Amino acid sequence: MERAWKPAALNEAPRSPVTSRGPTRLRMNKRPVSASELEQGYESDKQKSAGMKVVRAKDELRSALEPRRGGHIGLVPTMGAFHDGHLALLRAAREDCDTVVCSLFVNPSQFGQGEDLERYPRNEARDLELARAKGVDFLFAPSPEEMYPRGFETWVEPERLALELEGVIRPTHFRGVATICLKLFNIVRPNTAYFGAKDAQQLAVIERLVRDLDLELEIRVVETVRDDDGLALSSRNAYLSPTERRIALALPRALALGAEAARDGDDPVVVARAALDEEPGLKTQYVASADYAGPRLLAAVQVGKTRLIDNILLKGTSK
Ligand code: PAJ
Repeated sequence: MERAWKPAALNEAPRSPVTSRGPTRLRMNKRPVSASELEQGYESDKQKSAGMKVVRAKDELRSALEPRRGGHIGLVPTMGAFHDGHLALLRAAREDCDTVVCSLFVNPSQFGQGEDLERYPRNEARDLELARAKGVDFLFAPSPEEMYPRGFETWVEPERLALELEGVIRPTHFRGVATICLKLFNIVRPNTAYFGAKDAQQLAVIERLVRDLDLELEIRVVETVRDDDGLALSSRNAYLSPTERRIALALPRALALGAEAARDGDDPVVVARAALDEEPGLKTQYVASADYAGPRLLAAVQVGKTRLIDNILLKGTSK
């Protein structure tokens, strides 16, 4: 299979940078983290943190974490462009852990050819302030060369789970995700790592990685944070025009209808697909149910140039 991205490309022409199951409530039309809550969090988290250190080098992070090994270390892997979903993960980590490490790295190897690596939203200065406000102890923001130095050639190849749904459309995506996550786990050696249910298949791949490769860490899941209108927060929402955003709302609506249908004993996939078909402004890539951190109804759509994924927990059904 042709690889979408090779670390060697970095050397030729440097690219611009890049379980305990947690709460599993999915709140539609409700934004669990309000602005005032964020402000309150700001104050209390600030008090907890003596100050955040920005670290660019793996070795520096390892040394800085050495004296903290006796306590509980939490890792929140991210690609930045923070929104309240990321902040919910940071809050959960801050509540649980003595030391919170947040990684900020737009991982080139999980982007396929023709995907949005180059235009992926980046705002490190803003992210840095938000992470500091959430009480992060170490913000690890390495360069692509630091993570994929010359000669890098070892990859984690997740199989079955990584080949369905997202994997059909993005065949090399989870290989990139699993590889960077394993690298981050090895560098930070966290007791707990935090992942969002928004990317449910990614979560399932990571849980499988932890089991299959006998990693000594716990994965904690944080349920999807949504905007007031129901749209799941995503860094990629920034790509949407106001019209596209209105069209995109069909996605959470269709999933909610599907979940409701499942409670009534109907097929959630059929119902959600029919609801998406009624919105001519979007292209449905898949609608499916799967057991990823619980039974879920999942869908991916394309609105203009923007790909959006979302899922909802199916309660009270075995589908
Ligand atoms: P990124 O898209 O930045 O997401 C970082 C984490 O935030 C992921 O665990 C994701 O599931 C979670 N997240 C995103 N939107 C969310 C929302 N609306 N509510 C709750 N959590 C949300 O996912 C990645 O980065 C990368 O693939 C990464 C794991 C960092 C590997 O490069």
